[in-house]
Amino acid sequence: MLISLENVTFGYDGVPIIANAALSLGEGERVGFVGGNGEGKTTLLRLILGELTPDAGSVFKKSGIRIGYLAQTGGFESDSTVYGAMKEVFAEDEALIARLRETEKEMASAAPAELKVLSARMESLEKRIAARDSYHYEVRIKTVLGGMGFEGMYTQPVGTMSGGERTKLKLCRLLLEEPELLILDEPTNHLDIKTLFWLEEYLASYKGAILVVSHDRYFLDRITARTWELERGRLSLFKGNYSKYKVLKAERFKEEMRAYEKQQEEIAKLKDYVDRNLVRATTAKSALSRVNKLERMDVLERPLPPPQPPRFVFRTEERPYERVLDAPRFDLTVDGKQLLKDASFTLMRGEKCALVGDNGTGKSSLLKFFLSQDRRVVFGKLVRIGYYDQENADLDPQMRTLDAFWGNYPLLTQTEARKTLAQAGLGAEDIDKKVSELSGGMRAKLALAMLEAKNANLLILDEPTNHLDLPARESLEEALKNYDGTLLFVSHDRRFIESLATEICAIEDRALVPFKGGYEAYLASKKKVPMSEEKAPKKPAEGYRSKEERAREAWIRTRTKEIETQLGAIEEEEAALNLSLAENAADYVKVREITARLDALRRESDALYAEYETLI
Ligand SMILES: Nc1ncnc2c1ncn2[C@@H]1O[C@H](COP(=O)(O)OP(=O)(O)OP(=O)(O)O)[C@@H](O)[C@H]1O
Ligand SMILES: [Mg+2]
Repeated sequence: MLISLENVTFGYDGVPIIANAALSLGEGERVGFVGGNGEGKTTLLRLILGELTPDAGSVFKKSGIRIGYLAQTGGFESDSTVYGAMKEVFAEDEALIARLRETEKEMASAAPAELKVLSARMESLEKRIAARDSYHYEVRIKTVLGGMGFEGMYTQPVGTMSGGERTKLKLCRLLLEEPELLILDEPTNHLDIKTLFWLEEYLASYKGAILVVSHDRYFLDRITARTWELERGRLSLFKGNYSKYKVLKAERFKEEMRAYEKQQEEIAKLKDYVDRNLVRATTAKSALSRVNKLERMDVLERPLPPPQPPRFVFRTEERPYERVLDAPRFDLTVDGKQLLKDASFTLMRGEKCALVGDNGTGKSSLLKFFLSQDRRVVFGKLVRIGYYDQENADLDPQMRTLDAFWGNYPLLTQTEARKTLAQAGLGAEDIDKKVSELSGGMRAKLALAMLEAKNANLLILDEPTNHLDLPARESLEEALKNYDGTLLFVSHDRRFIESLATEICAIEDRALVPFKGGYEAYLASKKKVPMSEEKAPKKPAEGYRSKEERAREAWIRTRTKEIETQLGAIEEEEAALNLSLAENAADYVKVREITARLDALRRESDALYAEYETLI
């Protein structure tokens, strides 16, 4: 047993958050930890880690346990470079190898009497090195840094990296340290699809135990075998991954409802009997026994349905001129690294443009550049910008939540301010808290509520779904769909991009590549490969045509027809697959299957096109 909790109860300043929580976590177990924003997941992790002390109950940990913790916010701090910071994990391995080299040297010049001692030392060093697999530590660093998208950034100082990158670096460090228990609080927030797949694979074969908080169903399904859930202060443990948990939870709700209804019926019957019989002398005794029974009864509470999802509404006041944003020609260099070369960007009124690109290609930097009042960036007349910062950095942690919101919009009445916050999911008890006391998701909801009140006609959003629980993500998606302003956004959530984007702007090889159309069409366009020009056809000579040549021509006609039919069928299948790719975009397993089939089709059509070209 690595961890166990017994009847743990905890509250901040007397406000209860967790009641009577009990759990245990064994070696090598994989647990997904779910629950809505602000339910207390991070709090429970901090109780396990010992950063917080329970008001009642106890937390046990295996003695000497090594726990690695990735906090929900705040990244890695280091004066070193990316590679240097990872190498620190292997200081002991380096020392062992260095000592081995030294011993080798000493042996070369040692007197015969010393040889025995030295070779014994060599042997013991070699054993330790083999056991730790010390020689391969550089490969391990490169695997992890490469997988997490840091290739080519080894020499960059950690201090110059963005918040998202630093969180990822912290995760890299933890993966290399290989603790017995890895506690991850929303590790996927800053990951693009490629890195997410890599992390899934890596964690799937991780040797130690994993406890992970996430709002990403597919990620949880791939990695976990158990699920803990926190809702309204109650911790429940389920066997199975997220999908299984959903089924089990629905069953539990039904059972609890059935038990509740049955008891209510019984109560009604007993009461009815008492009412009718208490006054009659002959039956008073049996009525009294029923009164006793009613009094002794452990009355069940009506099981509550899941909490209400938040609601967001983004309104506009003025209609801006048609060209909302224009940046005709610019290069973008950040911290000496060139992110874009000779780029241009235009956004027209009403467009909903998703900015896509792998981690580290500079999406956030580009948004910041647009907002930097650089003269190469021109906003149209009457444009009013609302910006959502990936890290919610402009929120003052010391402020009371209501004041942080209201201070920005003093023209709202208190009722209006409270209503907007409540709809976003921040109730009366939350708005008196300091911003620093809000959970990650609640802070995101506050930032979104502030954006709503701005009535902006151009929204620039940097990963707005990070930290939001699923119902909140869906509400946000709905609100932005109904938004009649212009939208420029970055997101790694494929479903979110698919349902919102009317255009895509991709950062590829330091260029901005615009695409007119939605995400599905964009992905499909990326699959099309220009026709192969190799194996150029040898056309038959003009003039006289031999019998063989005529036969060949006839064969060519038949074969071209065949190929055309086959290509037609492939295109149809591709279209159908792309459609289903869009529908199943959030289902990684399906996406993988479909993409594999699309790749196979592309290879097939490449070959057919190549042959076709030799024929025509
Ligand atoms: N330092 C604090 N002082 C007072 N209240 C706090 C403090 N930290 C957290 N809380 C409150 O405790 C509750 C649970 O917060 P916690 O961060 O554990 O939620 P969470 O489940 O991790 O949410 P999320 O999904 O948004 O990260 C929230 O109501 C939050 O406002
Ligand atoms: Mg949290």
